Amino acid sequence: MADIEFSVNGRAVSAGAELAELPLVDYLQEDLGLTGTKFCCGIGVCRACTVTVKRYSGAPLDVLLACSTPLSQLQGVSVYTVEQLASGGSLHPLQSAMLTEFAFQCGYCTPGFLMAATALWDRLAAQPIPADELDEAIQMAVGEHICRCTGYVRYHTAIKRAITEAGGLLR
Ligand code: FES
Ligand code: FES
Repeated sequence: MADIEFSVNGRAVSAGAELAELPLVDYLQEDLGLTGTKFCCGIGVCRACTVTVKRYSGAPLDVLLACSTPLSQLQGVSVYTVEQLASGGSLHPLQSAMLTEFAFQCGYCTPGFLMAATALWDRLAAQPIPADELDEAIQMAVGEHICRCTGYVRYHTAIKRAITEAGGLLR
């Protein structure tokens, strides 16, 4: 079996074929030192481990659960983690809004919420929606994420604020 070639936050990586069954979250944390992606339930329920992926050049961002995705499924895929969101010393607007709205307490679920919201952001940038459909779109994006500190309303408010203030994501 060939090595698994993919990219993480724009950096090409190559994992040996013997790692084919290793969950992505373990590879990110143990091999790449990217500890922002969190492991929680490990069975695809809580969504704390959400990252985003592009499966081909020009594809929309999609979400992926890193706890239950083995490396064997990532051949040729571009993976993005929470470490990639801030750029040039500036937080992504979604990160800033979560701080402004005090969306999180312990913060363990925050990377998952952020990456799911980023996928929504990417979709809206390509295809804006009417403002009155935003609440439902946010619910669709993060409604299955579990926050044990119960920050659901504040997460929703923060995501809505960031998207509304961004301009160009709504019509
Ligand atoms: S750790 Fe809970 S869904 Fe991945
Ligand atoms: S902020 Fe603690 S689990 Fe969500």
